[in-house]
Amino acid sequence: MRITEKFKGPEETVRQIAYIEKASVYVKELSRKLGRKPSCCVTTFGCQMNARDSEKLAGILEKVGYALTEEENADFVIFNTCTVRDNANQRVYGRLGHLNSLKKKNPHMKIALCGCMMQEPSVIDKICQSYRFVDLIFGTHNIYKFAELLVRMFESDRMVVDIWEDTDQIVEDLPVERKYPFKSGINIMFGCNNFCSYCIVPYVRGRERSRSPEDIIAEIKALVSDGVVEVMLLGQNVNSYGKNLEHPMTFAQLLKEVEKIDGLKRIRFMTSHPKDLSDELIQVMKESKKICRHLHLPLQSGSTRILNAMNRHYTKEQYLALVEKIRGEIPDIAITTDIIVGFPGEEAQDVDETIDVIRKAAYDNAFTFIYSKRTGTPAAAMENQVPDAAVREGFDRVLKEVQDTARARVGLLQGQVLDALVEEVNEQDQSLMTGRLSNNTIVHFKGDKSLIGQIVPVYLKECHGFYYLGEIQE
Ligand code: 5AD
Ligand code: SF4
Repeated sequence: MRITEKFKGPEETVRQIAYIEKASVYVKELSRKLGRKPSCCVTTFGCQMNARDSEKLAGILEKVGYALTEEENADFVIFNTCTVRDNANQRVYGRLGHLNSLKKKNPHMKIALCGCMMQEPSVIDKICQSYRFVDLIFGTHNIYKFAELLVRMFESDRMVVDIWEDTDQIVEDLPVERKYPFKSGINIMFGCNNFCSYCIVPYVRGRERSRSPEDIIAEIKALVSDGVVEVMLLGQNVNSYGKNLEHPMTFAQLLKEVEKIDGLKRIRFMTSHPKDLSDELIQVMKESKKICRHLHLPLQSGSTRILNAMNRHYTKEQYLALVEKIRGEIPDIAITTDIIVGFPGEEAQDVDETIDVIRKAAYDNAFTFIYSKRTGTPAAAMENQVPDAAVREGFDRVLKEVQDTARARVGLLQGQVLDALVEEVNEQDQSLMTGRLSNNTIVHFKGDKSLIGQIVPVYLKECHGFYYLGEIQE
């Protein structure tokens, strides 16, 4: 593994743009050989940050001359991987087996792997031993060098592996291919310093680094002039944004600056750590016309004993008091959460505490995960791992509570008329459009494609669990 490269700034952007030129020569050559434009497929595993990284990968691939496709049987396939839980890793290995059989039929096919899973040395060993047909592997810290790595791949007949342990680089202004024309994620910070004891993210994404507010605002302004009306500010823990900037600023102050951007209609952000959520942020959200009425506030566990072992830095009571304060100030806010069941040492009483918080916090939605042992994290070395049957039982109880609570909570909106951003044609029924309310609830209603990207008032007619059927109000 290579260690940190020193910060180089805008020169690095210039270097990478030169590599884009160079890579496009190789792609042109391939195009001549194939007698058509070569195709490429970017597959994303994991979170919103990976989705944003994939847009950057797609932007470069398109720029060097590939045609983007959803088909995995393409001339260049890249998996942007996740390693937060082991089942994500297993899915990657399974899909790689399939790619191998496709590659045997298409000798021009190139296969690349990147993302969080590649930051684990044991994964690299396994791929080098058992998946020799992979052409390029890189990690999370050098993704901005993708064009350069493509050139190295074209110039080498062996697997190219380039993984760094860490970086202090933030490289701006490289091409991006957005999935949606009207909404976009924006990285405001990278990495995490929290070291929750179960979590591998600090090890694979490195230390916390905030982008400068000037760069963030400039990127959002450019997006707005390109048709974006909604942005999602992305970071592992946005509430600690700005602490390590040359001129420190708070996340709430950044939000106020983003709010001023003309033409921008909606602002979302993810994820908030409860320990760092300030009163200033609650006030800014309350007074804002643009910040959406949604807060994702991961609980992880409702048991103070388990929270302590998880290194979360709050108690059950502190979490509930925070929720109460937020709901008191912003009554129409939707609160969603993440919950882990089966953390080492968790007993039935701890699960009861989690269920108690679910009831009291009245979540609009909750993502419930089975604890996954991640090598190298403190929790993996704990002796009191919970047997599978007990985990399953706890998981089923939590899931049922989440579903019942969320249904009741989402149902409260019935009969209201609320604004929805129209996102896409409904997959199952082409006569319906799918929109998203400010509070993140999904609503389906009759309409046509011309509405995509617009914010329209919708009457919420019938609640179906987590979503609504509605009618657009003329
Ligand atoms: N096992 C299960 N879930 C995990 N998460 C993070 N690490 C683990 C793990 N080892 C969950 C947390 C986090 C979400 C993104 O993934 O709930 O909030
Ligand atoms: Fe992982 Fe905790 Fe950081 Fe979230 S805050 S990425 S759960 S270490």
